[in-house]
Amino acid sequence: MSDVNLEKSEERPDLGATNGAEAPTAGAAGLTFADVAQQGHTATTLDPDAKSVLSVQDLKMYFPVRSSGIIRRTVGHVQAVDGISFQVPKGGSLGLVGESGCGKSTTGRLITRLYTPTGGSMKFGDGEDDIAKMSNRQLKPLRRNVQMIFQDPYTSLNPRHTVGAIVGAPLAVHNVVPKNKILPRVQELLEVVGLNPEHYNRYPNEFSGGQRQRIGIARALTLNPKLLVADEPVSALDVSIQAQVINLLQDIQREFDVAFLFIAHDLAVVRHFCPEVAVMYLGKIVEVADRETIYGHAHHPYTQALLSAVPDVKQAAIGGRRERIRLEGDVPSPINPPSGCRFRTRCSLAQEICAKVEPPLLQIGPRHKVACHFPGELGNHPTAPVTTGLLGVDRQGSPVSGETATTVSTDPGFEKEWFDVKTQKTVSA
Ligand SMILES: Nc1ncnc2c1ncn2[C@@H]1O[C@H](COP(=O)(O)OP(=O)(O)OP(=O)(O)O)[C@@H](O)[C@H]1O
Ligand code: SF4
Ligand SMILES: [Mg+2]
Repeated sequence: MSDVNLEKSEERPDLGATNGAEAPTAGAAGLTFADVAQQGHTATTLDPDAKSVLSVQDLKMYFPVRSSGIIRRTVGHVQAVDGISFQVPKGGSLGLVGESGCGKSTTGRLITRLYTPTGGSMKFGDGEDDIAKMSNRQLKPLRRNVQMIFQDPYTSLNPRHTVGAIVGAPLAVHNVVPKNKILPRVQELLEVVGLNPEHYNRYPNEFSGGQRQRIGIARALTLNPKLLVADEPVSALDVSIQAQVINLLQDIQREFDVAFLFIAHDLAVVRHFCPEVAVMYLGKIVEVADRETIYGHAHHPYTQALLSAVPDVKQAAIGGRRERIRLEGDVPSPINPPSGCRFRTRCSLAQEICAKVEPPLLQIGPRHKVACHFPGELGNHPTAPVTTGLLGVDRQGSPVSGETATTVSTDPGFEKEWFDVKTQKTVSA
């Protein structure tokens, strides 16, 4: 990258934080991520009236599996993402959580169009054009608006380029500022992310992990994007550094009004950062809701199992413990997923209907959708499936003659009406 002509300085950098105080050493003090983050910032809030910056409907990504040998035939498909719908609110953030291999990164790469989806549609802002079907040339303006922050700060920065060249590269590629304005813009961005602007001529290996992730964030911000896809942006960092980087991302979100699709394993990090959360299992969204509902009133057995593994600070303070739900067995292969509900091979509540009929992602509250035949709070799941009337099937999942199945909408976002689990009737706000 030669567009930014920056001379390498001989001086060694100060590898400590260059701006702002270091966060406390959480691990040593026995604090959780949430404690540390709370010392810096309060959790982000939900704006229920915000328009969507990204709308995704029925998105699919099937990777072909080829046989070995000279003639390589397609022998199957990895159903990495299989018909997911969601919205990211303007200036807000949606968390995407789930076990390893459930399709989170593939979703992020589809949105940034690093992959071309097998099916489904994606709309950006008020635009009517389907970005899932755009050519590379048509995508160029979109790439300015949607940027990605990667998980690994050690491999996502080119070690042979200076920080100035890395952060300034998008400006040069998109030709948005004159060449003599690139360096001032780079320095401004380094300052925004808490790095010394004079360190623009240093190389990535001269920075710590947290500082490198700040460089990655500066690079993602260069073109003033409207949406940032952050794929596990802090999971490679120490817990005290995690809190600093999350607090920085929150500042950036407020300052630049940028929306986030925040991909993470760590439910404590997501709770702090995301007012809305979608839970994925084996290529599907199984539950999506606002933060209070997901963390306080989850209705899907998989979400409940994930949450049971998160240390509960309040319970611990009064000497109690949240009961851990152990998931039996491994995640099945996405090449040949289980029939009906994909979670059924590991679900303690599974009944016959679960193997025969796939539960639709049903809206069951003002901002709550769940895909389960027996949705309910932990310990309060109904004994009979709630979806039989809706799907025109009996309790075993066999079609009932004369009954027709209602088509459940796959529209992203939430409607003003929803299915009430207790009465099994449609209710409205
Ligand atoms: N390029 C590819 N070709 C074939 N299969 C792929 C490809 N990329 C991902 N997969 C498969 O798709 C599934 C979803 O992968 P993905 O990386 O999206 O999961 P993830 O939820 O991000 O997992 P992790 O938490 O480990 O990062 C996995 O089974 C993975 O092996
Ligand atoms: S549909 Fe059945 S198997 Fe799937 S999560 Fe609900 S109870 Fe478990
Ligand atoms: Mg991933």
